[in-house]
Amino acid sequence: MIAIGADHGGYELKESIKKHLEDKGIEYKDFGTFTGEAVDYPIIAKQVAASIISGECIRGILCCGTGVGISIAANKVKGIRCACCSDYFSAYYTRLHNDANILAMGGRVVGPGLACMMVDAFLETKFEGGRHSRRVNMIHDIENS
Ligand code: RB5
Repeated sequence: MIAIGADHGGYELKESIKKHLEDKGIEYKDFGTFTGEAVDYPIIAKQVAASIISGECIRGILCCGTGVGISIAANKVKGIRCACCSDYFSAYYTRLHNDANILAMGGRVVGPGLACMMVDAFLETKFEGGRHSRRVNMIHDIENS
């Protein structure tokens, strides 16, 4: 199960990504927002992050206007590695090297076509492990210090 969420700035992009996931037969849980009305992105970020930490969802996708605010909020949850990306290369490598568990994007930054390609890369790419595991562990050492 993939967790997905957005604030009003990312609402339309979230809807495009949902359609893409449906076309591919990928199950998702939508944590809102469900309209274009203004909503505070930390609320959505926390819910999506919690669903990953609990094991309900394996990975998450978050959208706000820039992708930045919602990624900063998600990264405050212990165990979350949320990557704010606006290019394909980063969306691919953040899985390969950072084992990112949430992809954040800006609805006012990337169009739906690129965003869906980034989602595919993010969902299909496996963590490389090896030396990258050591570095990811070092990130969590900082988190625990
Ligand atoms: C909302 O206007 C906007 O600030 C938000 O979507 C996001 O871009 C924050 O980082």
